Amino acid sequence: MIAPSAFARILNVEDARHAARRRLPRGLFEYIDRGCEDEVSILANRRRLDAIALSPAVLVDVARVSTEAELLGKPQPLPLVIAPTAVAGLVWHDGEIALARAAARAGIPFCVSTQSITSIERIAAESGAELWFQLYIWKDRQRMLNLLDRAWAAGAETLVLTADTAVGPNREYNLRNGFGIPLKASWRAALDVARHPRWAVAVMLRALATSGVPTYAHYPAEFRTRLGREALSDEVSLAKDVTWEDVRLLRQRWRGKLVVKGVLRVEDALTARSHGVDAIVVSNHGARNLDCAPGPTEVLPQIAEAVGGRMEVFADSGVRRGADIARFLALGARGVMIGRATLYGVAMGGTGGAGRVLDVLSAELRTTMGMLGAQKLADIRRVEPSHLHG
Ligand code: FNR
Ligand code: LAC
Repeated sequence: MIAPSAFARILNVEDARHAARRRLPRGLFEYIDRGCEDEVSILANRRRLDAIALSPAVLVDVARVSTEAELLGKPQPLPLVIAPTAVAGLVWHDGEIALARAAARAGIPFCVSTQSITSIERIAAESGAELWFQLYIWKDRQRMLNLLDRAWAAGAETLVLTADTAVGPNREYNLRNGFGIPLKASWRAALDVARHPRWAVAVMLRALATSGVPTYAHYPAEFRTRLGREALSDEVSLAKDVTWEDVRLLRQRWRGKLVVKGVLRVEDALTARSHGVDAIVVSNHGARNLDCAPGPTEVLPQIAEAVGGRMEVFADSGVRRGADIARFLALGARGVMIGRATLYGVAMGGTGGAGRVLDVLSAELRTTMGMLGAQKLADIRRVEPSHLHG
């Protein structure tokens, strides 16, 4: 592993983003980095976060600041979870294992995506991280249930149903770049890869030499895609008829904690609670799905207020600074998920790179807390957020 200290010049998430941009083929970088349609909401997420001001309590002893949190009954040193991100295994060899190791080192959970390149069994065996499992529901529900059994057997006790991807999102840059799973060969893609030789050797050639063309590890072997095959089997394409009935079934079936990710309405939060859901993630999927969606910051206060203490509320979308974590906490979140920031880190340098990003965010959070006069996370939740720009 490259030690996080090797990344001493990476001082913030934006530095990691630049390093990732240099290293990754453009098609892959844009898949990670960009939004959807006119990319209004990705800018809006940033603006809305920036607009939230937190007033410090002065003359508070902040010699010892604690970021100790408790998510779903488990204590952890930071209020963070690494968000599920498809194809993390494309940005670094065994990228999901690298991310999970960085999570383990930081003492936070790593949420494995249904669309992971590495299987949850290998991630569990090789990382020692607390694993959550994110579920996209396939049309073939029986296969989906088999996948859940695998996740449970591998040690995942928290299941995260993603509810905000009801249909396939519209991302034109992926079409222009020819980027998708199954990976398809094209002159354009070949040129893109050739221009990024470090990635080509360290990720693509290594994959080809070991496990073959990277694809979704959790998809049934007979449906795994090979280079050039047109599409994934219909049975394991994402269902468009996912409803609260599925939540009811999952609640019956899943023995661990159940989380619904991608909630933006108070009434949906209340419905989740009435279905016995343990937590929700207030999220607009990092502005990747619905370009006219509100930002989580706009709806989080009402949602947190409506559910009271009766269900845990997490948030994500747009965290690039420790102050953004503090903003989400001040608006009522108990925990925060990190998507792109740690992906940039792992793309830059595997476990050490992702660890560096977590260290940076953690240090920024502590600085923000010190400045706010917040000795512990609960003190941030008492900060009255206001709007910088009227
Ligand atoms: C995602 N996200 C996501 N969410 C999910 O539930 N399942 C998934 O497979 C993926 N895949 C995915 C891939 C990539 C490349 C990104 C960037 C994101 C969304 C993710 O979990 C999270 O909600 C957002 O990334 C949060 O926003 P930030 O932190 O990236 O701004
Ligand atoms: C994404 C899907 C996989 O955001 O959730 O790309």
